[in-house]
Amino acid sequence: MKTKKVTKAVFPVAGLGTRFLPATKSIPKEIMTLVDRPLIQYAIDEARAAGIKEFIFVTSRGKSALEDYFDNAPELESELRKKGKTDLLDVLKDTNMESGAIAYMRQTRPLGLGHAVWCARRLIGDEPFAVLLPDDVIAADKACLQQMVEAYEQTGGCMVAAMEVPPAKASSYGVLDIEEDMGSIVKAKGMVEKPKAEEAPSNLAVIGRYILTPKVLTNLNRMKQGAGGEIQLTDAIAEEVGGEGGVFGYRFRGMRYDCGSKAGFLQATVAFGLSRPDLNEEFSVYLNEIVAQQKAAQ
Ligand code: UTP
Repeated sequence: MKTKKVTKAVFPVAGLGTRFLPATKSIPKEIMTLVDRPLIQYAIDEARAAGIKEFIFVTSRGKSALEDYFDNAPELESELRKKGKTDLLDVLKDTNMESGAIAYMRQTRPLGLGHAVWCARRLIGDEPFAVLLPDDVIAADKACLQQMVEAYEQTGGCMVAAMEVPPAKASSYGVLDIEEDMGSIVKAKGMVEKPKAEEAPSNLAVIGRYILTPKVLTNLNRMKQGAGGEIQLTDAIAEEVGGEGGVFGYRFRGMRYDCGSKAGFLQATVAFGLSRPDLNEEFSVYLNEIVAQQKAAQ
């Protein structure tokens, strides 16, 4: 199928991050670190791997640490250069953004994810775009968004990343109503935001990666508040079911960590710590010890 290339991505980072208070009183959630990289860096790396060239951040008051993170740090760089620390200079390079590749848009009130994406409408214009929620961190051999871009080239329309969840957990997610299951790609005939367990149309939950058509922005133009009193992105996408391009779920290959929750963040910290060759040995010895101590104490 002939689809327009996806080169723009929106990163909605204007939420209050209340589940991580008091830390998020002064630190944006997206700057919290998994091992030694902030959450936002994982999302940026994934977007780059998928061919994204323009990065649009929807921010809010108190997120200046995020803007600083992507800025050059001339003093730090010259100090590292003087000391011959080229490996650290390389690490810093990944955080620099080309001039003009990054844009910030303010969401003045936290009216929901749908509203945050709508705030970026003028920068997106009339082309398909990706949305990445940085608190969903996905460990995968091939970047999740890259897998989705490849699938989207076959389907067109709107595509959401989907994963199987137990029925009791469905009420925490948007859930797909499936029309046709083609394996890694499913065609949706509906989408429900945070359904009650007994009303969930399937066990396929939507997580924080999307490829959307500009039509979704038009839908958001006339959106009213949905579940939880927020303007829901799910509702605007669901309007595209049965529309020209349709809505598809994509069962990505990879492990998703919900770093917006404390338990998920801790799980990700352990998994990413163990996956690092420079830390694996020391960290796994420590984990084994602590588990043995806990067992002995029971
Ligand atoms: P969450 O539902 O995790 O909300 O938002 P939150 O405010 O970040 O965190 P908690 O629930 O209070 O702990 C999912 C994503 O949508 C963005 C968030 O920044 C996060 O990336 N978001 C949410 C906005 O940008 N604006 C909003 O009004 C709401």
